[in-house]
Amino acid sequence: MPVAAAVAALSSGTRGVLARMWREDGRTEHASVPAFTRMSWQLMGVGAPASLVSGCHRAAMEEVEHAQRCFALARAYGATDTAVQAMPSLLASAASEEASVEATVAALVRDNLVDGGVMEGLSADVVGARAAACEVAEVRAVLEQIAREERSHAALSWAVLAWLREAYPVEFESALTAALKTLETMSAPRWSAPTWQTRAMGADPHALRQHGGPLDAAETRQLWDVRMEATRTQAAEMLRRAGEPDAGEVA
Ligand SMILES: [Fe+2]
Ligand SMILES: [Fe+2]
Repeated sequence: MPVAAAVAALSSGTRGVLARMWREDGRTEHASVPAFTRMSWQLMGVGAPASLVSGCHRAAMEEVEHAQRCFALARAYGATDTAVQAMPSLLASAASEEASVEATVAALVRDNLVDGGVMEGLSADVVGARAAACEVAEVRAVLEQIAREERSHAALSWAVLAWLREAYPVEFESALTAALKTLETMSAPRWSAPTWQTRAMGADPHALRQHGGPLDAAETRQLWDVRMEATRTQAAEMLRRAGEPDAGEVA
């Protein structure tokens, strides 16, 4: 069914929840662009190869496109306020705030483990699960594209970590040990539409899922547990192999 016909068949409450969800998704995607811009700057500062730098720029452009696709869906569901918002905090900060190689390596390790390995990986898992339940072809295609590209952003993070391990073994080891401790303080994000909002707006939970709507908190939590365990295992393996003279690539 084309998206316009599928939207027309929904109650106004269900449509309203989906319009808000896509608008928030668009804002989140838009806000994820500067992290890659910043990372390309940091990577060049520590001598990373062109393949990683170009991966960063590609990821930034993909996030721009994710935002545009989410905002377009928000409008298809009736949202009118899909303008991007200013991010004044960017005006006060330089692309890299760390003055030394050691501090930059530490920041890259932490950000690529937490924001890349965990959050981009989880985002791919969650969006992939939303796509699997989605019955509106145009919406499912957007979700599948986003899931595939978020997965590649997580893979970029693991490639950055693998390069840092080879280039800065001493700094890498202490930074990854510290970053693994940070993981223990994290808890599953609340990406689900608040149930009070769904109820208050009279949305139909079944229709929300058919339209690629959010997972419930328990589903997100389950994906989170699996993603955290996989991340810990992969990071621990990198740490173990960091001490070996012929450490190979970790997939
Ligand atoms: Fe994205
Ligand atoms: Fe991403």
